[in-house]
Amino acid sequence: MRYRPRNHRDKNPEVFSQLVKNNPYMARVYDYPKLLIPHPTPENFQQLWSSKIKAVSDTHSGKVHLEIGCGSGRYLIEWAQENPQDSFIGLELRYKRLVLAAKKIEQQTISNIILMREHGEFIDEYLPHNSIDCMHINFPDPWSKKARRKHRILSADFLTKMHPYFRSSGELRFKTDHLEYFETVTEILQKLENYKIVGHTTDLQRSNYIENNILTEFEMLFKSKGNPPIGYLRAETL
Ligand SMILES: C[S@@+](CC[C@H](N)C(=O)[O-])C[C@H]1O[C@@H](n2cnc3c(N)ncnc32)[C@H](O)[C@@H]1O
Repeated sequence: MRYRPRNHRDKNPEVFSQLVKNNPYMARVYDYPKLLIPHPTPENFQQLWSSKIKAVSDTHSGKVHLEIGCGSGRYLIEWAQENPQDSFIGLELRYKRLVLAAKKIEQQTISNIILMREHGEFIDEYLPHNSIDCMHINFPDPWSKKARRKHRILSADFLTKMHPYFRSSGELRFKTDHLEYFETVTEILQKLENYKIVGHTTDLQRSNYIENNILTEFEMLFKSKGNPPIGYLRAETL
């Protein structure tokens, strides 16, 4: 079971001021109340989401995207800019990455993204069924050691749990340089009856998918480190 991020600022201000000395970003996550929720609850998420994101209204035809582990937001921001009619939720755990993402979103006055400091595994507590069109997971922590693989975000259990949260023709987009993880997720999806892989490569750079590829921060880093092969897949929900 994952720990829930603690709200030291409200629950234990003394501990909070000590922690902030080591990591000033722990305080700076509170500087963007209109787009970043450091300690989400279903209530404060719903408030921000419904006031800010047009996609939840019945009249709006845009898609709803969820990115788990959005880092400093490079990929999410580019998607959001290319698809202003859509709405985006970014989940990330690291304070600094959240602050960097929020800063860019604010500076570029992008209005269709909200960020939460939350584990992807708990997103079902925030959204109703039939609410997501596309879930993006890029370079998730691979938990390489066998005994730790149970911590991987992409598992048969997680994908099964998430299925009802997709609208019809939902999409999963996944990229990783960890080819064993990629292979495992491919096999899981092939076995699940309610997902269908519709795009797949173990070498994104040298595939046709590269044309529409949006780079993440980690991918940029790989480019400067000799371009290891990257697995990319797109699956649809049935
Ligand atoms: C390897 S980084 C990749 C970041 C970004 N997707 C990219 O490609 O540049 C993985 C990110 O996922 C975040 N993360 C790890 N476990 C997570 C979880 N359970 N829920 C949400 N984010 C998570 C980490 O904090 C980290 O920023």
